[in-house]
Amino acid sequence: MGIRNLLVSLQTITLALLIATPTLIYASNRHFHDASLLFDVFKSVSKGRHAFRHDTFGDESFWTDRLRLHEAIAGESLGGVGPGVDPSTALLVGLKVDVNALPKKVLRALQRGDVDLTDPATTIALLQLDAVVGVKGKVSESGRLESVGITCALCHSTVDDSFASGIGHRLDGWANRDLDPGVIISLAPNLSPFTELLNVDEQSVRAVLTSWGPGKFDASLLLDGKAFRPDGSSGAVLIPPAFGLAGVNLHTWTGWGSVTHWNAFVATLEMGGQGTLYDPRLNDFDKFPVAAANGFGDVRPERDLVTPKLGVLQQYQLALKAPKPPHSSYDSSAAKRGKLVFEDQADCARCHIPPLFTEPGWNLHTPEEIGIDDFQARRGPEDGYRTAPLKGLWTHSKGGYYHDGRFATLMDVVEHYDVNFGLSLSSNAKSDLVEYLKSL
Ligand code: HEC
Ligand code: HEC
Repeated sequence: MGIRNLLVSLQTITLALLIATPTLIYASNRHFHDASLLFDVFKSVSKGRHAFRHDTFGDESFWTDRLRLHEAIAGESLGGVGPGVDPSTALLVGLKVDVNALPKKVLRALQRGDVDLTDPATTIALLQLDAVVGVKGKVSESGRLESVGITCALCHSTVDDSFASGIGHRLDGWANRDLDPGVIISLAPNLSPFTELLNVDEQSVRAVLTSWGPGKFDASLLLDGKAFRPDGSSGAVLIPPAFGLAGVNLHTWTGWGSVTHWNAFVATLEMGGQGTLYDPRLNDFDKFPVAAANGFGDVRPERDLVTPKLGVLQQYQLALKAPKPPHSSYDSSAAKRGKLVFEDQADCARCHIPPLFTEPGWNLHTPEEIGIDDFQARRGPEDGYRTAPLKGLWTHSKGGYYHDGRFATLMDVVEHYDVNFGLSLSSNAKSDLVEYLKSL
């Protein structure tokens, strides 16, 4: 090689290095940033999951100190009151058991039928193992149940029944439509927090609580004191899923606010956790007489256990995708035809806009627009109904559809729209539309 060629090669190498080095530095930096961003997201989501599953936000002060629910769970023979809550009863009122929290020894004993499911002591043992989804119990060394609190997972998680009915792996975000929160609360020895706020006797409170039924809860009861609809049926609403919410603006059936607004609201006012809540809409005496009289629109505890968790809780819920239905659970060719009905002929997609299946923006409608009464809408702050996001409908067919479950089946929903919007859909178009809804 001549000296000239060598010089040219050196020049080329230098040039290449001059270009490549900053590019490499830039690229590795970028990957470093990507990696650290992903790590941060992962950390937040897993912290959020922990809060969603396990954090009581100090609500033991409500469930234990005030309602004394722990005494009803333990029963008289274990230092509480009444018969106690054995595991069979707990499963009957819709509580779920996390199979991952059970040691192998216990699983084998359960399989052999060696575990006494009629003994409240077994419930306490399960609480000690942290195996009851959404219920946190503190058990003393002598086996005494000292306190209980609840978490978000109580209502917004269920299990896949992989071990037995009610016992399996956690399914976070799924609405627990077996859970009967009213019956559970009615077991409490002291219902004075309810009798005092509502200014009624204990018997009336129990009648209200037991009117809710499985899968339902009345988040507005302690705001407006309206327990029953004008026709005498319960004012409770269905527990909605807490998945598939990313991109959705207003949440809850009546569009109270964002995920993080509602989380602060629920943890503080509904679960009885120690949190700050600022929502001056609750100062409206006409609409929310109980909330306004008790200053629920501006709650400031000494110690705030909720606010520090709102960010990660929100990230976790937004990360929860709506689960896809099993292929065998719907007729896919009918669903394909149903998609066209949804988008064109019936124009459902005018409000349920894919892929969110609610409106981007202010996703609320008047009761007249969807052809129903205004009772529940008027209990919310905006007098409307939120366009329900439809993904994962297949996971909450129990308890019916619409906020109060007034339509038992998806066909009933479709029949309602057919009349309300004057669609004149053929019976084939209706059943195709139902298959499409099942496929979302
Ligand atoms: C006792 C049962 C119960 C508990 C505990 C509970 N929720 Fe809910 N949740 C409900 C009910 C019922 C609604 C519907 C309320 C309404 O529309 O009036 C709801 C609504 C929601 C929504 C709105 C979903 C949507 O479709 O927009 C989110 C999000 C949510 N809850 C998250 C949480 C979180 C997070 C926690 C814990 C901090 C929690 N919930 C605790 C019963 C519960
Ligand atoms: C004007 C807007 C609008 C249109 C058009 C509309 N919906 Fe709805 N949809 C809503 C609202 C609002 C709700 C919530 C009702 C409630 O809270 O009780 C809802 C609820 C539902 C539900 C119940 C979801 C649940 O979780 O219980 C289904 C299913 C549904 N719609 C399907 C359809 C179908 C199918 C069509 C077309 C035939 C359609 N919707 C057209 C606004 C609309």
